[in-house]
Amino acid sequence: MKIAIIGTGYVGLPSGVGFAELGNEVVCIDKMESKIEALNKGVITLYEEGLEELFHKNVKAMRLKFSTKMSDIEGAKIVILAVGTPPHPQTKEADMRYIFAAAEELAEYLQDYVVVANKSTVPVGIGKEVKQIIAKANPKADFDVVSLPEFLREGFAVYDFFNPDRIIVGCDSPRAKEVISELYAPFKDKSTLLFTSLASSETIKYASNAFLSIKIHYINEIANFCEKVGADVQEVAKGMGLDKRIGNRFLNAGAGYGGSCFPKDTLALSLMAEKQGVSLELVKTAIKGNDERKKQMAQRITQAVKGIEKPTIAALGLAFKDGTDDCRESPAITIIQELLKENFTIKAYDPKAMNVAKEILGRSIEYANSAQEAIQQADVIAILTEWQEFASLNLEELGKTMKHKIIVDCRNLIDKDLATKLGFVYVGVGR
Ligand code: UDX
Repeated sequence: MKIAIIGTGYVGLPSGVGFAELGNEVVCIDKMESKIEALNKGVITLYEEGLEELFHKNVKAMRLKFSTKMSDIEGAKIVILAVGTPPHPQTKEADMRYIFAAAEELAEYLQDYVVVANKSTVPVGIGKEVKQIIAKANPKADFDVVSLPEFLREGFAVYDFFNPDRIIVGCDSPRAKEVISELYAPFKDKSTLLFTSLASSETIKYASNAFLSIKIHYINEIANFCEKVGADVQEVAKGMGLDKRIGNRFLNAGAGYGGSCFPKDTLALSLMAEKQGVSLELVKTAIKGNDERKKQMAQRITQAVKGIEKPTIAALGLAFKDGTDDCRESPAITIIQELLKENFTIKAYDPKAMNVAKEILGRSIEYANSAQEAIQQADVIAILTEWQEFASLNLEELGKTMKHKIIVDCRNLIDKDLATKLGFVYVGVGR
């Protein structure tokens, strides 16, 4: 079937490529001319493992097109809204202006029956508002609105698209259910297609992200406890995770969570709840604790170089996590910004996020072309993002190039015993 996707960001583009790969005819629409121009020239506008290959394959097969014109949604059976819902600059609530603007604009191009699907993360009740906006803008339009929340992780978007744990659909119309069932028919035998109400679907998205954020904050708090009692948080997480009720994922203690989702969605959910007179204490605690944690990590690094005159810090990692170039709400960036308040020299390296980070940090720090270069003449190695290449650094060789041999491993990537044996002062998280 023909599908139109409005928004070609971290959700829209991988989803568009994914649906094209499944044999659909997809048109991705975005207002940003530069982005669409690049995509039409075959230049992919974001880094995701495996995306580029599928992108070229489907463009070549004429299943994937890019346009700035909303009129190109004509003929689509499904129009997917995948535009940004960033925190409102003042209220910090999820900003719906792009969703509402897209709904308003697409309305006039609706002819035959269409399913409009909200894939962007939207507060509970927005699906209903989108329906009202479209009906008002085009009273003759024959359409339904469904909620189709995405659960893609950045850096794993292609994998997650083709291997969803579940597909959640908020839908109150049998016709829409039929269309969505056809769209997701290829997943029939490998995933659960859960149809529920619009409100439940919109809530599932926020409740899931908030729970994962709480889970991460929880293991970070347990890490603080482990440090006091001589336990190893990685062993504790392993032991906990063997309980299927707990599960072993998202129990990696670290520098705190970042990205464009967890920080935004936890805040939006707590504000949404406040408006309904409900106080989500756990969510609010995780938000506050996670912000605190980044400061704690910076203090840990400052403490580690205490007594060293004008120390140089090799900051390994800038992206909010491994596998992506995205630095939005990155703990690494926040930690570096905290450290810049001290009189430190910072040399940073990240396998993918250097250019993105330069937009944020500018010339306030130095940029190295490799971990090795960043570490040369440094007093401390600060591991800030969980890129696996940092787990296999040749510490014996690198140690020889450092002024002081100190490691503050905010992501527990380094073999603590090996580092200690090689004469490093090793500071981990929860161990
Ligand atoms: C998240 C959700 O996982 C995904 O389902 C949703 O659709 C979008 O938001 P994403 O933000 O891309 O995905 O990244 P994720 O892999 O969830 O990591 C988020 C943050 O948590 C990162 O900063 C990561 O470093 C941190 N994290 C993750 C931990 O600190 N410990 C963990 O065990 C896992």
